[in-house]
Amino acid sequence: AKVTLSVIKADIGGFVGHSAVHPEVKEKARACLEKHPLLIDYYVAHVGDDLVLIMTHEHGRNKGEIHKLAWDTFVACTEVAKKLKLYGAGQDLLADAFSGNVKGLGPGVAEMEVEERESEPVVVLMADKTEPGAWNLPLYKIFADPFNTIGLIIDPKMHCGFAFEVRDLIEDKKIIFNAPEDLYDMLVFIGAPGRYAIKRVFHRGTGEIAAVSSTQRLNLMAGRYVGKDDPVCIVRCQNGYPSVGEVLEPFAFPHLVSGWMRGSHSGPLMPVSMDDARPTRFDGPPRVVALGFQLADGKLIGPNDFFSDPAFDNARRLALEIADYLRRLGPFEPHRLHLDEMEYTTMPQVMEKLRDRFIDLRLAKKARAAAGGEA
Ligand code: 13P
Ligand code: 13P
Ligand code: MG
Ligand code: MG
Ligand code: MG
Repeated sequence: AKVTLSVIKADIGGFVGHSAVHPEVKEKARACLEKHPLLIDYYVAHVGDDLVLIMTHEHGRNKGEIHKLAWDTFVACTEVAKKLKLYGAGQDLLADAFSGNVKGLGPGVAEMEVEERESEPVVVLMADKTEPGAWNLPLYKIFADPFNTIGLIIDPKMHCGFAFEVRDLIEDKKIIFNAPEDLYDMLVFIGAPGRYAIKRVFHRGTGEIAAVSSTQRLNLMAGRYVGKDDPVCIVRCQNGYPSVGEVLEPFAFPHLVSGWMRGSHSGPLMPVSMDDARPTRFDGPPRVVALGFQLADGKLIGPNDFFSDPAFDNARRLALEIADYLRRLGPFEPHRLHLDEMEYTTMPQVMEKLRDRFIDLRLAKKARAAAGGEA
């Protein structure tokens, strides 16, 4: 039978501020999912202030009942968050009621349905203080860069390459790029991660799913600031797919992502264990956690909290150095995001206040020209 791995996440309140998930909230989530008849297994995780439900079942992707279970769990957890007066209780639940599918309602969703192999290792990646496009660079390295993934060169089952489904998050379009031949075209798009995000990766030999990410953009859905859409991603490993080590390797380089402090700054993505995923410095820097599981008839054997490995200490050190450097830029770009990427802004109010103090130089020029003066 096919197994579906559903990873559904939401920020339903932070402890303290936007730093972490309160233990009682996780406890409530476990109580909601424990021995649930729809599920084979589950694991309740967190990254920063985002609560992540990792669930296995036999009902396929986009299944209303599963999404409703996640929604009801987030609602129950929000009650706990409200009782404890956690910060931003219910932040990511944008709708008042569930309506068939959790997509578009606020939570982030990544789901894949697989024919479980002899051995089925998967990695669940979860990030806080960033956006779905944050996976573009690592997914590119994992599935298309032979300097990261030697399997692309020496594994006969991977040599055919992978296909990337890329979403335009603003115009809601998708396109498939085939690696390696379309790479130069693809990089034109995925190098702009605020707009284009890799949604899925497929094995080109079998057409099977290899990776899937959440690509919801909360700020676009709500039409106002509601927090950066801290994303999740599932990657299958080994035997025709990248090895676990090839999946983790890109995170040894803490690349810059958008979403730090008020969703309005860029910063290095720091790989950490789940215990260390409680961003504090300037509400960051942005974090990524990688949990490994072996699927065994749908059971989640794990997690192996990969970034607790001291092998990622240098990446953390470099991330902190980058953080020191960027912080000294204060309110200046490129630490602060572009005007159209910031989730908080006072620009309309400040502009309105100063409207009369702005002098339009083009009008002044025209007036001088009309008066016969020099232009
Ligand atoms: P082992 O020899 O430890 O099984 O590792 C195999 C491998 O290919 C790791 O990348
Ligand atoms: P979250 O998106 O993790 O809630 O963070 C929001 C924020 O503005 C932190 O400074
Ligand atoms: Mg928050
Ligand atoms: Mg968050
Ligand atoms: Mg966020």
